[in-house]
Amino acid sequence: MVEDKKPLHQHDFDGIEENDNDLPHWWLGIFAVSILFACFYVPYYHFLNPEKLPHAALQAEMAAREAAVAQVAEQKAAEAPEDPEAALTATYSAGGWEESGKAVYTANCAACHANDGGGTIGPNFTDDYYIHGGKLSDLIRVVTEGVPTKGMISWKPILKPQQIQDVSFYVRAMRGTTPATPKEKQGELVDEAGNFVGAAEKPAE
Ligand code: HEC
Repeated sequence: MVEDKKPLHQHDFDGIEENDNDLPHWWLGIFAVSILFACFYVPYYHFLNPEKLPHAALQAEMAAREAAVAQVAEQKAAEAPEDPEAALTATYSAGGWEESGKAVYTANCAACHANDGGGTIGPNFTDDYYIHGGKLSDLIRVVTEGVPTKGMISWKPILKPQQIQDVSFYVRAMRGTTPATPKEKQGELVDEAGNFVGAAEKPAE
């Protein structure tokens, strides 16, 4: 503590006197150091390396993160098969689903679509007419999601994805066969690949 040695300032209020003392050394020290600090800080950050200022650094980090996210999305897109229908067609052609597909069909679908696919409550699978499209992906979609308002339930909660694929392939294989009592055609004509002929493809329902 610096001793009071300066004369009084002729300033007195309620017995409290104001003295004109030197500032404490510790205070002057901090003051000097802060000025010295500013001499380095201001040129370093504001002139030489403005990109290191907090706002700029944050923006740079956000941009880097966005680029990383975009890169991951790009990678995922590259890994996904170009055309899911082509991948399904390859699996369909490879076979191996027949037995499982038939078992699932007989147990779950024959009641409404008939054992030979001729149709009863549900549509005929042997003709070239489809309500929701004849592509493998269309069949899988309808079996998975169902058409609840039309009496075709969603099989997602009941069958495993593999079973849904197998039974959809089995349904596809019935196309072109001759059932005992074919139900009259429903829906629109599709081509060999299962795309609607004529009118633009029906939107997914
Ligand atoms: C309770 C009766 C019922 C059962 C069981 C049923 N379906 Fe259906 N299914 C229907 C009806 C009704 C439709 C017609 C839906 C419509 O009009 O949109 C249909 C439509 C379909 C379609 C679309 C046909 C088209 O023309 O687009 C496919 C594919 C299909 N069912 C597959 C299956 C499979 C596979 C199973 C067994 C896992 C199954 N269904 C079980 C009643 C049934």
